[in-house]
Amino acid sequence: MRMIDLIEKKRDGLALSKSEIRYFINNYTAGEIPDYQASALLMAIYFNGMNRAETVNLTLAMAESGDMLDLSDITEYAIDKHSSGGVGDKTTLIVLPLVASFNVPIAKMSGRGLGFGGGTLDKLESISGYDVNLSEDAFRRIARESGMVLAGQSKSLAPADGKLYVLRDVTGTVASLPLIAGSIMSKKLAAGAKGIVLDVKLGCGAFMKTLEEARALAKTMARIGVDAGRDMVALLSDMNQPLGVAVGNALEVAEAVRSLRGEGPADIHAHCVEVAAHMLHLAGQGARWTDLAATRAEVDARLRCGGAFEHFRRMVAAHGGDLAQIDDLSRLPQANLRYTYAARENGHIAALLAEKVGWATLALGAGRATKEDEIDHAVGIEVHAKVGDSIAAGDALMTVHANDETSLQAALDELRDAVHYSPAPVEKLPLFYGVIDGRDF
Ligand code: URA
Repeated sequence: MRMIDLIEKKRDGLALSKSEIRYFINNYTAGEIPDYQASALLMAIYFNGMNRAETVNLTLAMAESGDMLDLSDITEYAIDKHSSGGVGDKTTLIVLPLVASFNVPIAKMSGRGLGFGGGTLDKLESISGYDVNLSEDAFRRIARESGMVLAGQSKSLAPADGKLYVLRDVTGTVASLPLIAGSIMSKKLAAGAKGIVLDVKLGCGAFMKTLEEARALAKTMARIGVDAGRDMVALLSDMNQPLGVAVGNALEVAEAVRSLRGEGPADIHAHCVEVAAHMLHLAGQGARWTDLAATRAEVDARLRCGGAFEHFRRMVAAHGGDLAQIDDLSRLPQANLRYTYAARENGHIAALLAEKVGWATLALGAGRATKEDEIDHAVGIEVHAKVGDSIAAGDALMTVHANDETSLQAALDELRDAVHYSPAPVEKLPLFYGVIDGRDF
């Protein structure tokens, strides 16, 4: 087989066979195909797309380019979740202990953030001592002993994706549906899950800006999972405004802890109940949690009464994290400066743009512009109002937590047009726009 033939085939709009896709992935991972040829193929895929079989073959080839985790010593049915990422999205920190509190073991690998804010690992590292870099033995031991583990993704998981993502990033080929779906799903399939709940965000603070784009991505990912023999559900959720109140690493850990004690903001509470209910619905495999509405009510009651908090504590302790910071949230990293961002007008909030809040938290130092950047765990923004709320000029809309005047000013510049006002009442934004169930395919 020759790489030039694959490039020409895809350039001319033809479908690549399973063996051609394997040839590309295996040889590129092994360093035997130069970046210029891989880039040309990626660009041809970007313009001509991939059909369903090609997309699945690409995803499986990437998943199988490294270790495929077998979690059968931990649980018969491994359940996982994935969020396509957004501003204030601390869902994993709440949902995982919540699901584990129903005696469903959770062994999850998560990523770091690049872009607006920290990823789940960065958030957890706000807790002193929390070790995300576990050996496979430690990962399995903690999962067996604590019923829950949440650690960094092993380098041996889907190495083809890691290598290709770097190339896509510098060749203008990230925004391709089969390449995004294949990239995300290859890591999920390699991480050993049998059932996967996808939380696909849409709106100005998300990768996918419109409902149509998000639905197309969700369907593509769910089809890949179904074709690979997994149970799949994809939720389409709002990311036009931040989720919850807190945006920033330690602030989000504190909000997750409050939510787990039953004292969280209403939107993050409802969002997590929905995700966890779908996870249990899948994990029950038609024998338990068969009625989604009843499961939702059970999960809601568990979160409200603080019944999942102990599972979070147990996980933090197993990872070496400082429990004193979880029990007394004032011990988490705190920023030096607090600035109150006040409403400029009387009326109703018409928009509180997640994207602008995201860039502002990046300016404060809560995220990474490049992989090498250090994260400041203490900084971030709290949003005290949501779209549809009525406000009066001078009301506190946000609190900005900064560690120096320069980054505070940079954040305020980003926030200048973040809030839109309306004299007339405005409808609240929905949390969810739809569900795609793999069983319907
Ligand atoms: N996240 C991923 O893991 N891969 C993509 O291609 C886009 C988002």
